[in-house]
Amino acid sequence: MNDNPFILEPYKSKDLFCDREKETSEIIRYLENGRNITLVSPRRLGKTGLIYRIFDELSDRKTGFDTFYTDISSSQNIDDFVKLLSESVVSTLKQKSRISNFFKLLGGIRPILSYDPLSGKPEVSITYRNEDERVFTLKSIFNYLENNNRKVIVAIDEFQQIRQYHNIDMEALLRTYIQPLHNVRFLFCGSKKHTMTDIFSNAKRPFYESTTFYSLKKLDIDIYCNFIIRKFTERGKLINQEQAKDIILWTKDHTFYTQALCNEVFIRSGSTIHDKYISEAKNVILRLNEDRFLEIQRLVTPSQWNLMKAIAKESTLKQPTAQAFLTKYGLGSGAGVLKNLKTLVEKELVLEENALEGTAYSIYNIFLFRYLEKL
Ligand SMILES: Nc1ncnc2c1ncn2[C@@H]1O[C@H](COP(=O)(O)OP(=O)(O)OP(=O)(O)O)[C@@H](O)[C@H]1O
Ligand SMILES: [Mg+2]
Repeated sequence: MNDNPFILEPYKSKDLFCDREKETSEIIRYLENGRNITLVSPRRLGKTGLIYRIFDELSDRKTGFDTFYTDISSSQNIDDFVKLLSESVVSTLKQKSRISNFFKLLGGIRPILSYDPLSGKPEVSITYRNEDERVFTLKSIFNYLENNNRKVIVAIDEFQQIRQYHNIDMEALLRTYIQPLHNVRFLFCGSKKHTMTDIFSNAKRPFYESTTFYSLKKLDIDIYCNFIIRKFTERGKLINQEQAKDIILWTKDHTFYTQALCNEVFIRSGSTIHDKYISEAKNVILRLNEDRFLEIQRLVTPSQWNLMKAIAKESTLKQPTAQAFLTKYGLGSGAGVLKNLKTLVEKELVLEENALEGTAYSIYNIFLFRYLEKL
């Protein structure tokens, strides 16, 4: 039996999910008060997990919400979007009679339902006879949800993906259908901050100011520390405060990486966590990832790789064009560094964070950061 309490998937149960109490209740309160939410954070911090946590919390309440989760990261066009949305509706409805009722309301089209033999997930395939049917089907899904006898929350994960659709202004279309809905609230989620901000905060775009922005932060270090100690202890493994903190700091409190290191330490430790297990776990992780890191090195130019090394060695970079920084790492001109930084941010190799004090750059993947720092 796999008893490792440090999960590497977005959500399993409240018990294995650290905190997010305040975020859960705030977002629920907003949704209950009729607001749509835009949830953003860097990748792998816990947005998807939080959506499931919120849905789990709502399922315990007597508030009577039906919740629908759709990840549209694999979609390329409106057909894919409609397919994924209807699959999420089918997943939630479960009962055959409700599903066939849903299909009936989709108009003339005849969706075919099957189940993936491995995952058991529903798969809906739809053949359209003309362009209008696509748009009509999308509208019908929203109409169906609007007329649901319980209130509805639809989470659309990786929402920025709609910007990749060709030959259609998906934002305008969705906004038109979503705006009149009273029974349905939306939780739009994404990690590409620039794109998400442009979709929801650009006065020229259809979704302008139509949602409440919620920016997910890192977990509180003390709370996470206690969670880690508790989860080890519950499974008969003793870890001290200093060790738990070391794990969090080494992974910069970036949830996925912290969980992965805890998971690895858990695997290789006995009833007492010795420091050597923790350093072994760190080394193993870096070793296992090395091929991927070398692949990344091949995908960037030597000067971009050098810049990444320099950023890693600084841990966080605030003044990329400062002469002292350029000279220390032999990076050439400030203009060249800015150009490379832009490319690395676009490739999601470097994380750009804007704060009141200014912009800060760091290596996005924390394990890659630890690898580069040692080179
Ligand atoms: N509150 C939490 N408690 C425990 N583990 C968590 C928590 N939040 C996130 N995680 C861990 O971090 C990983 C990443 O979380 P999740 O997939 O929710 O992030 P995300 O922000 O949706 O990432 P992406 O932008 O890449 O989709 C999860 O697989 C899980 O291991
Ligand atoms: Mg996610």
